[in-house]
Amino acid sequence: MLQRPRRNRKSEVIRQMVQETHVSAANLIFPLFIVEGANQKTEVSSMPGIYRYSIDNLLREVESCMKLGLKSFDLFPNIDEALKDQYATESHRDGNLYLRAISAVKKEFPEACVVTDVAMDPYSSDGHDGIVQNGEILNDETLEVLGKMALAHARAGADIIAPSDMMDGRVGYIRNVLDDNGFTGVSIMSYTAKYASAFYGPFRDALNSAPKFGDKKSYQMNPANQREALIEAELDEAEGADFLMVKPGLPYLDVIKLLKDNTELPIAAYNVSGEYAMIKAAVQNGWLNEQRSVTEVLLSFRRAGASAILTYHAKEVLENKWL
Ligand code: PBG
Repeated sequence: MLQRPRRNRKSEVIRQMVQETHVSAANLIFPLFIVEGANQKTEVSSMPGIYRYSIDNLLREVESCMKLGLKSFDLFPNIDEALKDQYATESHRDGNLYLRAISAVKKEFPEACVVTDVAMDPYSSDGHDGIVQNGEILNDETLEVLGKMALAHARAGADIIAPSDMMDGRVGYIRNVLDDNGFTGVSIMSYTAKYASAFYGPFRDALNSAPKFGDKKSYQMNPANQREALIEAELDEAEGADFLMVKPGLPYLDVIKLLKDNTELPIAAYNVSGEYAMIKAAVQNGWLNEQRSVTEVLLSFRRAGASAILTYHAKEVLENKWL
């Protein structure tokens, strides 16, 4: 045999020399849940180790992450049921929980990168990402709400706006609103290929944001489709997106790779709540080694072509020096 590929695996030094992909703190974005109140820190039961923080505790959590070199955060609000309505008006009300959280983080940690989620569901009395009328999700009317929400986030200091709703035309609509108001420097990370997935369950527990009727299949993508992701990617790119995201992550590595091969824009992967919950459950049962399974999962996103990884594992991998 002239070729013996095992020669390049024979020692740790050589294995590291030929390693094709790496994960570092710079690739990670840490999703954080926020709640109203003071001194709150309540664990999400389906996501062991993940908490909902009031703003004061959020700042302490961000501080401890920053010390570990974890500097990008994606915030998600848990909204009191009484504040929800059909039009998600709370989502762009001056001084709401979310806007206060963004400003507080940016004020205390100007060098942190704050990603904000633009979608109606945490604020919608219907639990949907768009305005509901006679059981239908309205597209163009929803864009107006998303535009107001994005502008409020930009004013509060958001670095990157991440529309997660899957309405048609929202990237271009939000880009125009931001530019018209002088926020040409605020980025858009589009949830380009977001699938109607079973893996969002624990996230909806965390925010109490599950749809009150039906499902999200008329706007989120069919898990059976790959080529449709290219249509979404082309549109998002033409509409001015700065990043293209694929979500969920693990069951859609092929889609990450497909987009990577068809765009020059950086790709983000969202390692969602259900993926986190599966690993935690198996680890708690002693069925998987946590360090090895988590680092293998993160590497797989990088290997598929993701620059950024949104993951609930972000802090623990750095705390435990697993990278
Ligand atoms: C809502 C939104 C969802 C997630 C991020 N933004 C849930 C959904 O679409 O129902 C899921 C994230 C996760 O599961 O970790 N627009």
